[in-house]
Amino acid sequence: MAKKKVLCIGLVCLDIINVVDKYPEEDTDSRCLSQRWQRGGNASNSCTVLALLGSPCAFMGSLAPGPVADFILNDFKMYEIDISLLLERAGCSCPASVVISNETTGTRTILHTNRNLPDVSAEDFSRLDLSQYQWIHWEGRNAEEQIKMIEQVREHNSQQQEDDRITISVEIEKTREPLYQLFPCGDLVFMSKDVAVHFGFHSAAAALRGLYSRVRKGAVLICAWAEKGADALGPDGVLVHSDAFPPETLVDTLGAGDTFNAAVISSLSGGGSLQEALTFGCQIAGKKCGIHGYDGILQ
Ligand code: ADP
Ligand code: FRU
Repeated sequence: MAKKKVLCIGLVCLDIINVVDKYPEEDTDSRCLSQRWQRGGNASNSCTVLALLGSPCAFMGSLAPGPVADFILNDFKMYEIDISLLLERAGCSCPASVVISNETTGTRTILHTNRNLPDVSAEDFSRLDLSQYQWIHWEGRNAEEQIKMIEQVREHNSQQQEDDRITISVEIEKTREPLYQLFPCGDLVFMSKDVAVHFGFHSAAAALRGLYSRVRKGAVLICAWAEKGADALGPDGVLVHSDAFPPETLVDTLGAGDTFNAAVISSLSGGGSLQEALTFGCQIAGKKCGIHGYDGILQ
């Protein structure tokens, strides 16, 4: 039987990346060092990394037809990501980001537009054959619908032998109140530094201790903290930490968090321990920060 896949549900968009060595001043006309199109979106980026790490994966999300969609579809195919669950939304516009990636400081400034593309709904999700997946990861977006999808998976799991149960992970990245409903939903919950800071915490460890009561019994809460690495807390109450693995030269931090999430999922789904997964996540995310895009994260 083919290995079961990791399914990532969330955004795919176009990233127009402008690499600069100095952030432009408003109302000036300057040249960037380079410019490229890249398939973006958290769940889509995580699929890229899962594929590069050799974890069979699938993406589920919406796509508006047109030239941008053609670029995106072609790129998904290049990485051999299963896109059979892509939802074509006629009459909508494709989300896109203009990204200023500053090679000198390592910052990435994102200006995103998403006008009218509907997210995946619980009804869309109900058509899936869940037996194909060993892990489903949700990028927190339309939380109410996502909770209904997760309930469908929990119901499915209740009828399976332990080995066939699907692991559920969610990412709470944006500081949007409705997303905090997702804390009790995952077996694994990725919380961003932004969310931790929003709740008044100044370190990953403090945020994990402070917010662990929000997750479901037995769940693991993870918080990545850029150059400080990442921490995790599970039901045994032991705080796990990995330092970051900074590249020789910081080149491009766009998608570092998506890379980290994918590497953690890849490691855990392959039987790694929490410590191994956290360290691997930081290693691969560190590699990513030293290159443009994702190709080369394994070198
Ligand atoms: P994002 O801003 O994309 O959400 P995070 O700040 O959450 O990314 O970082 C995710 C992981 O990427 C960190 O745990 C770390 O391992 C790695 N990382 C991010 N920024 C750096 C950096 N400047 N130097 C080294 N590693 C980094
Ligand atoms: C990186 C990213 C980009 C995208 C933006 C959307 O994490 O997914 O690829 O443009 O965030 O918020």
